[in-house]
Parts: sequence; structure tokens; C-alpha cells
Amino acid sequence: MDFAEFKREVHRRFGLYLDGYKEPQLKRRIDSLISLLQVPDYAAYLRLLSQDSQQWQRFIDKITINVSEFFRNPEIFARLEKEVLPSLLARHRNLKVWSAACADGPEPYSVAILLNELAPAGRHQIDATDIDTSALDAARRGVYPSRAVQAVTPERLERYFRREGDHFYLQEKIKHMVNFRRHDLLKDPFDSGYHLILCRNVVIYFTTATQNELYRRFYQALAPGGVLFIGATESLFQYRELGFMKVAPWFYRRPEV
Ligand SMILES: C[S@@+](CC[C@H](N)C(=O)[O-])C[C@H]1O[C@@H](n2cnc3c(N)ncnc32)[C@H](O)[C@@H]1O
Repeated sequence: MDFAEFKREVHRRFGLYLDGYKEPQLKRRIDSLISLLQVPDYAAYLRLLSQDSQQWQRFIDKITINVSEFFRNPEIFARLEKEVLPSLLARHRNLKVWSAACADGPEPYSVAILLNELAPAGRHQIDATDIDTSALDAARRGVYPSRAVQAVTPERLERYFRREGDHFYLQEKIKHMVNFRRHDLLKDPFDSGYHLILCRNVVIYFTTATQNELYRRFYQALAPGGVLFIGATESLFQYRELGFMKVAPWFYRRPEV
């Protein structure tokens, strides 16, 4: 069985669409896991994945990097706080937000903290999704190492977290503002009517064709006037063709009409 066939079988048996990921790095990651496990070939590895749910989780962990942190790129989050959210809140009392590929939760929780401060009376909906169920379980627990909260201001750390040893426990009120659910960006349908979609630091794993298709679908998922927020190292080169207006380097708006 070659790698192409392995990918087809993973899709057929587990519904995971690996063709959307950039092949060289994907293959490198999977090959290193296979050699670490001392499995002879892709066919044997596929059998192992079918039989052992722990190995399946390890496989998912390997192809998806879960690293995240609160207010990742604080200077860009400052723009979200000072410009983008206020302009959305000027038009909508209640915001509908989606953090797509949220990892273990710092990103949607950062938005929840901002909305709690900017519009505490609003009935906001914050959806947060990821393909990795163990990351989502960690997100629901809301307990983080100091690395994940390094960009949180001392005032917010004091206000929203309880520290126990090396761990920071997020306040229940903020946890309750976010709905986590499993969702595969390459396979599952998108909801619509979002005022803000965050999709940061995940498309780098996908092929250019898959990235463009995703951005096209995000455009459809946004309400008119809604904003797409992408990663600091990413750029939406074809934003005009897709119908977006550039608000700032990492923020793209779907026009009102
Ligand atoms: C580096 S994290 C990004 C977390 C957060 N957005 C941030 O910027 O801090 C990438 C996440 O993408 C998720 N991911 C990878 N492939 C995915 C897919 N096809 N659908 C949904 N999530 C996916 C991974 O599980 C991982 O949690």
C-alpha cells in the first residue's frame, strides 16, 4: 500500500480527508510515527488504527498541532478589541462568533473575555470547533499552563483566572460563554450568519486549493458586514476575487451588500 492509498483508506474508513493537507509535511509526520512504533508498512499501520483508539488519538495529535495561547499575537488582538469588535457591536447588540480550529480553547475564550468587557449585557453566541476531541475536552476543562496565559495582562489574570501551582483555572462565567463541538473544516457543513470568524494557524497545513475553498466557504458563513480574522503569518492574497474588503492585514470584511 502506498501513501496515496493509505490516505484514501483513512478517508473511507474514518472519514478523515487527508488530501486537503500539504503532502510533504503530512507524510513526514506520519512516517516518523510509523517508524517510532516500529510498524512495518502503511497497511499494518491502518490495521493498528482500526483496532486501537489510543493509536488513533496519537495519529490525530501527530497531524494536528494543538499549540495555542490566550491573546495570541497581543498587538493584533488589541486591534480586535479596539477597532473590529467595537465596530461590529455598534451594529449588532448580540454577536455570533466562530473560532474555527480552536485547539484547547484559548482563542474563543479570549474573545469571550473581550465581549464580557465590551458588551456584558449582550447575548453572544461563541461557537468553537476543532477536529481533535481531546483538545476539545481540554478546552472544556479550561485549565492552562503558564505558557498559555503569558500574553494575558496582570489585571485580566487576576480577574478571570484562579492560580493553583503552575496551573491557571479559567473562571466558570467565561467558560459558559463558549460552545465547543467537533467539526472537520474539510468535510463538515458550515453554519452561517457569523459576525466574526477566527481561523488562525490551521490553513498553513492545507494545500493552496483547499485554503481558497475554505476562504470561499467562510465568506458564505459570514453575515453581511461580518469579519474574518486570520493568523499573523497568513495572508489572504485573493481576497478581492472572493468578495472580501481588507480592513487590516489580518481582518477581512464581507461587504454589507
Ligand atoms: C495550531 S492550532 C491553532 C489554534 C488557534 N486557532 C490559534 O491560532 O491559537 C491548529 C488546530 O487546527 C486543528 N485542525 C487541524 N486540521 C483540522 C481540520 N481538518 N478541521 C478542524 N480543525 C483542524 C488542530 O486539531 C489544531 O487544534
